[in-house]
Amino acid sequence: MGAAREHWGSRFGFIMAAAGSAVGLGNVWRFPYTTGTNGGAAFLLIYLALIIGFGFALAIAEMLVGRSAQRNPVGAFRALGGRGWPVVGYLGITTGFVILSFYAVVAGWTLAYIVMMISGNLGTTDPEALNQIFGGFVSDPVRPVLYSAVFMALTGWIVIGGISHGIERWNKVLMPALFVILLVLVVRSLSLPGASAGVDFYLKPDFSKVTSQTFYDAIAQAFFSLSIGMGTLLTYGSYLSKDEHLPKAALTVVLIDSGVAILAGLMILPAVFAFGFNPSAGPGLTFVTLPAVFASMPGGVFFGVLFFALLAIAALTSAVSILEPMISYFVDEHGTSRHRAVIVAGLVCFGLSVPASLSFGPAADVTIAGKNWFDLMDFLANNVMLPLGGLLTAIFVGWIWKAAENELRNDGRLHLPWVPAWHLVLRFLAPIGILWIMASALLF
Ligand code: TRP
Repeated sequence: MGAAREHWGSRFGFIMAAAGSAVGLGNVWRFPYTTGTNGGAAFLLIYLALIIGFGFALAIAEMLVGRSAQRNPVGAFRALGGRGWPVVGYLGITTGFVILSFYAVVAGWTLAYIVMMISGNLGTTDPEALNQIFGGFVSDPVRPVLYSAVFMALTGWIVIGGISHGIERWNKVLMPALFVILLVLVVRSLSLPGASAGVDFYLKPDFSKVTSQTFYDAIAQAFFSLSIGMGTLLTYGSYLSKDEHLPKAALTVVLIDSGVAILAGLMILPAVFAFGFNPSAGPGLTFVTLPAVFASMPGGVFFGVLFFALLAIAALTSAVSILEPMISYFVDEHGTSRHRAVIVAGLVCFGLSVPASLSFGPAADVTIAGKNWFDLMDFLANNVMLPLGGLLTAIFVGWIWKAAENELRNDGRLHLPWVPAWHLVLRFLAPIGILWIMASALLF
């Protein structure tokens, strides 16, 4: 074996890195508009029920596999499961490329919007004009691609620094900064005259809007938001020492992730209502409706820059966690240097993001199975690959890896009375729930 495996410098550092992975565009960009289009708090309740029901159990399971094996996803499934199981690791590595291909595009937009906000290009309260600005920008064949390149370069630069000096160090700075910005913006939003209509909309459940699609959206959102199903939490867990106590760390990460998603709604929806804009504007809520909100409020440029910086930070710490599993695979299994692995994988991810970016412009009509590249990657990752990875992980930890319960108890040293319940969730509830997502994805 090569040099000793690098580990996190501190428990706090690990928790910040894992929370940095979970908190991303999924919480701040996707969650508020999905809640908005699914009738508000009813969606929120279903989402939380799914996280408590099996999201949390799966997060522990992934971290546990990594902590026990001290390897990348492929090596970990090989070490603990033997023949055949490395396939789950390979699936995860592939999923990383697929996710980054569209993630880097939206992340690039957040960088662009910081610049546009500062230069005053977004200073209009007319949503129609802002819609044209957004459409003009994303359909440009060059500018969004350059912003994605900058974003991938930043991501690679952090990952090249390694675990404690790169990923941990930056998450320990960026995540607290994100929390502070989020709180400032929530207070600003809630203190606007007329904000309470948005709070009512957000916190009063309207169950008449709940359809089977609501459940499906909630379950896909829960997976993506917790970073479950591709080996990210597994890889981060592999940099923990073997006797680290997992459940509390996992609980903290789950609470931070749901907390940030809920606060992101409280940051966005009250402000949208205060100025009379439409809360179900869909994916454009962030890039079209919110600039109008900022232009309507005193000091809007300041708050607007803060908001897009928050999005960029959230995206960056998540992208780092999508890149790291592939890097650990190349380093562990092929002896590649970290430096080289990051440069090659980063370039490939950037290459894959170019067609995703062009999907909003020149390549909009280039479709496979009726979907352009961006939508195809998004669909493959969220509707096929992540649920499949999560399903196989649940089956592996629930049925195949006999030592799972004992490992969670740290070789039996800890008294954790709920461990059998956790195991039952992985055996039955999680696989059945996930199969149901996949079935509904195919049937609708
Ligand atoms: N959870 C992140 C978000 O909410 C995205 C993410 C990071 C992710 N790592 C992941 C999603 C691994 C799935 C798997 O934006």
